[in-house]
Amino acid sequence: NKPRILVARRIFPEVVERLRTHFEVQSNDEDVAWGAAELAERLADKDGALTTGSQRIDAQLLAACPRLKIVANMAVGYNNFDVDAMSEAGVVGTNTPDVLTETTADFGFALVLATARRMTEAEHYLRAGRWQHWSYDMFAGAEVHGSTLGILGMGRIGQAIARRGAHGFGMRVLYHNRSRLAPEVEAECRAAYVSKEDLLAQADHLVLVLPYTAESHHAIGAAELARMKPTATLVNIARGGIVDDAALARALKERRIAAAGLDVFEGEPSVHPGLLEVPNVVLTPHIASATVATRLAMASLAADNLIAFFKEGRALTPVPGTAATT
Ligand code: GLV
Ligand code: GLV
Repeated sequence: NKPRILVARRIFPEVVERLRTHFEVQSNDEDVAWGAAELAERLADKDGALTTGSQRIDAQLLAACPRLKIVANMAVGYNNFDVDAMSEAGVVGTNTPDVLTETTADFGFALVLATARRMTEAEHYLRAGRWQHWSYDMFAGAEVHGSTLGILGMGRIGQAIARRGAHGFGMRVLYHNRSRLAPEVEAECRAAYVSKEDLLAQADHLVLVLPYTAESHHAIGAAELARMKPTATLVNIARGGIVDDAALARALKERRIAAAGLDVFEGEPSVHPGLLEVPNVVLTPHIASATVATRLAMASLAADNLIAFFKEGRALTPVPGTAATT
């Protein structure tokens, strides 16, 4: 008997086909965003699942899914996993590290550039037919090259952004992280470790790339925004909830910082109405890893995790703290 797998969202048909050669697969081809109860119902008789970041795997769900042994997330972030509950239930969780690092860093840097140089605001102006003549200060923004890049959260993606800033744009790179990097990694990224306070005070462009946890909830709120330079920009490609979006909308409106670039939001796909009202913010719908090649690599790695787990008894990229093996 083949193990039974649920694919919780629509993904590449060729990846689903590959899964079908190993498993009995139920896939959400209609791409409906199931609620918790519906997800639990569909998972109740499954041995494994391929999820995206939007299905919550917690004690309540696990109690309803006694056969479940592995959940393969098609995302590097796994804040949708209750790691302790999965460990207790003996369920392995996997994520997709490494395959999206450079692609996500490219997008983070694109948001830094678009935010500093006011690209979407300028495009809206042009599309609205308001471009009549040249003006010396029309969409004059902030310098990127040679400025100070701040990175909060210095994992693989943070390091890849640091390299782009230091080597490509001649930026001074400062970072803060729970733990300091090894000296050779700091040297390779040309990044200097500073306190969070100094990072906030000194960054011209601050990029958030830290995982969302209880400790990082509202890591950037009104107090932190107040410490930033009034000319600074803030970019969030990490997770909604790391920034207090209401406080950010106020700070942008009152020009207490210059601008923000946001790919993730508290309560997404809803966006705080205050952010939709201000012009000095670039908004994208959680697409930092979205290139065709990288999304295929993520789906393939999630599938490989399921196959390796059921064939060889061990997942390829298990999330620390979840059960490790069959
Ligand atoms: C996307 O947000 C991811 O975690 O991969
Ligand atoms: C994860 O968040 C990473 O930086 O790889």
